[in-house]
Order: sequence, then C-alpha cells, then structure tokens
Amino acid sequence: MAALEISASTYARSGSCFSPNDLSSSSANLRLVIKNRRRRSIPCSARRIAKILCSVAPNQVQAPELSTTPAGVASKKECFGVFCTTYDLKSDDKTKSWKSLINIAISGAAGMIANHLLFKLASGEVFGPDQPIALKLLGSERSFQALEGVAMELEDSLYPLLREVSIGVDPYEVFQDAGWALLIGAKPRGPGMERAALLDINGQIFAEQGKALNEVASRNVKVIVVGNPCNTNALICLKNAPNIPAKNFHALTRLDENRAKCQLALKAGVFYDKVSNMTIWGNHSTTQVPDFLNAKINGMPVTEIITDIKWLKEEFTERVQKRGGVLIQKWGRSSAASTAVSIVDAIRSLVTPTPPGDWFSTGVYTTGNPYGIAEDINFSMPCRSNGDGDYELVKDVIFDDYLWERIKKTEAELLAEKRCVAHLTGEGNAFCDLPEDTMLPGEQ
Ligand code: LMR
Repeated sequence: MAALEISASTYARSGSCFSPNDLSSSSANLRLVIKNRRRRSIPCSARRIAKILCSVAPNQVQAPELSTTPAGVASKKECFGVFCTTYDLKSDDKTKSWKSLINIAISGAAGMIANHLLFKLASGEVFGPDQPIALKLLGSERSFQALEGVAMELEDSLYPLLREVSIGVDPYEVFQDAGWALLIGAKPRGPGMERAALLDINGQIFAEQGKALNEVASRNVKVIVVGNPCNTNALICLKNAPNIPAKNFHALTRLDENRAKCQLALKAGVFYDKVSNMTIWGNHSTTQVPDFLNAKINGMPVTEIITDIKWLKEEFTERVQKRGGVLIQKWGRSSAASTAVSIVDAIRSLVTPTPPGDWFSTGVYTTGNPYGIAEDINFSMPCRSNGDGDYELVKDVIFDDYLWERIKKTEAELLAEKRCVAHLTGEGNAFCDLPEDTMLPGEQ
C-alpha cells in the first residue's frame, strides 16, 4: 500500500483579480451570454475580455436600440437587441403550454462527452418536448475558444426548446440558479501520476464546484458527477455544499449498469431490454460489483437463465469492471458517446417514474442505507424514483457471501479514497492508503 499524507493547509484558492468592466453579449439565433460579469473575484489566469459572439459579421450588425423595447416585454439584462423581444419566454409559455425554463449547468462543456450530451439535452429527448432549457456551459480558460464553437453549433441547430446558452470559466457565474449540474470536467490521470495525486487534483476542482453550487445554484439542484474518480468527487462536492441536500448528489454508475445489461443480454441471447433489476454496487472502478444475483432476464433471476455461475462470477464481472479500459485500448480515448447516453439515462430515471418492479443504479450518499454499507460515502446502490427528481433506495434485494464479500471490497476502496481526501471534505488531514490492486475502469 502506498501511504501519503496531505495537510489541510495545502489546499487553498489561488490569488484572484477582478474587472468591473466585463461585459455580456448575445448572438444571432438564441441568447448567448458570455459569463464574465462576476460578482466574485476570479483567478487572474481565468480573466477574459468579453466580446460579442455572433454568427453575423460585426459590420452587418445593426446596433440594438434597447430603449425601443416594447412595453410589457420584460427587459433582460443579458439579451441583445431583437432577442429581448422575440425571446419573451413568458408569452411563449402561454401559447406553447411549456413548463417553466430550467437551467442546466455542464462542466467540461468543450469536451467529447459534453459534445454528445448537449445536443440530446437541447433536442428535448431528456427533459421532454414541453420543457424549455437554458444551457450554462463551464469550460476552462484553455478551452474557451472551443466552448464558443460549441455554443455556435448549438445556435446553428435551431432547437426551439433551447432558449439560452451561456458560456464561462467561473463556476460561481455559470452555476447561477442551476436546477441541474452535470459535472463532467476533470483531469485524466497522466502517465506516472499516483492515484492519490489524481484524487487531490480532481478533488480540488469538485470542492470548488461544490462551494459554487452551494452559493449560487438552486437550493434543490440535482448534481450528477461524471469526472473521475466520480464517487469520491461527488462526496467532496456535497461536503462543500452544506446548504444543498446531500441526497441530491449522484455519481454516474449508469454507464456500468448499461454495460452489465449488454453483457448479460449477449450471453443469454436476448435483446438488452429484457434485462432488468441491474445493480452496480460501489465504486466506479475495477472493484465495482455488477450484481447478477438480483438481476433479471425476462423477469426471471439471471442465475436461472445463465446457469454458468463461474462465467457470471469471473468473466462477466471482470468484463463490466474493465470495459472502460478495453474501450480506451481500442478507441485510443475514453468512452464519450455511451457515457453521454448513460447521463441521459441517469437523468431520465430521476424525472420519469421507474417501471413497476424495476430499479436503476446510481452512486448516492450512503447515510441511512438499509444494507449495512458504511455511512458517509458515495456508493452505487439500487434506486427507484417517482419521477420528481428524487429517489428512494430499494429494500428488497438479497445478498449471498460472494456478493457481500465484493461489496465489502469496493466499500473498503471508497473508505480509503475518503481518507485520502479528508483535506477537501473538512475532515482534517488526509492519509492515503489506497489499495494498489484497484483502478479506474480506464486504467489498465
Ligand atoms: C469509463 O468507464 O469508460 C471511464 O470512466 C474510463 C476512464 O477511466 O476514463
């Protein structure tokens, strides 16, 4: 076991500076807001001169006359010229029977996963055809130009439900009033990087984003952490957001659930919609436990359909645990499209009622769990939802020695990860004694 101590004092925000003259602007087809007008100070490195972002060349743009905004049309500080009148959401709501606008914040928005995800969100396939949305895209200073490109592509797609796009590099700006926060952005583990170092680097990102959510997001924001190591990042995030219910923080293990369903379907020779009740227990790592004991195929226990228990215990389990790594070997990069699809699935599982008798997996805060899993960690467990964004844990699951032994192993790993980030969760000095035989799915 590698042991490393990190002092709480080594974690501090870097120096910051502020310009009151930062501007916002908008764009041709939908409201595009450059989020730099900050109430908070930001690191000097993250400062950017705001500029008009518009598909139309500047010399073709007629300067807006804001004073001509017709009476009765709410003036929006961030809107630009004609968009102040044409995007009167309130009157659109009346004629289209739309729900009220929801704000969706996405970090790592210039990356591959987000590139698949954003267009699904904008099309209405995630939240429904009567749900207008605002996309609030968080990137880094380095990715800012790419973020502008993403926003332009969204703009050019003419999605009727996409009412607003804003881009920025400061979570305190971008997360303002977010009802959903999809936290994708994280550093990948570089060559030779200790796992403890990855936990620390990404942990700092999620501690900061937790603080930002705590300060500016909706009090009932639902947070899905995708950036790895996602369970511990979700724990760090919620610990830094004490004013948001801990229950609202999820770590994405839906991708693992989908992978497990696919493998069982292949082995049983059935289409994957016949596989249900698939739980992934624990960490999104190679200790995760795809639970074939409680899963069903055509409503029957998997073990009655696939009687090769050795295959289930060894090949199936390892295939799911290491699927991400095999994919990286073939593709040369991490899964992106299937991750985006699984984020969609994870959201839809919370905003639509779970089919009777079924459940879904998500990494959630363990406090009060009925299984006897250690409290105060983020652990993937079986959940059901009535479609209101909330969930409850499924109680009627069974355990045998094999399943419980593996659950204890993934639990031990998460407890070790938690000790290793104590400096980021406000629990004193970190002590890293991570087991050496476990990895993220992508590390092989
Ligand atoms: C995956 O499961 O595909 C990813 O989490 C792999 C990784 O480590 O990026």
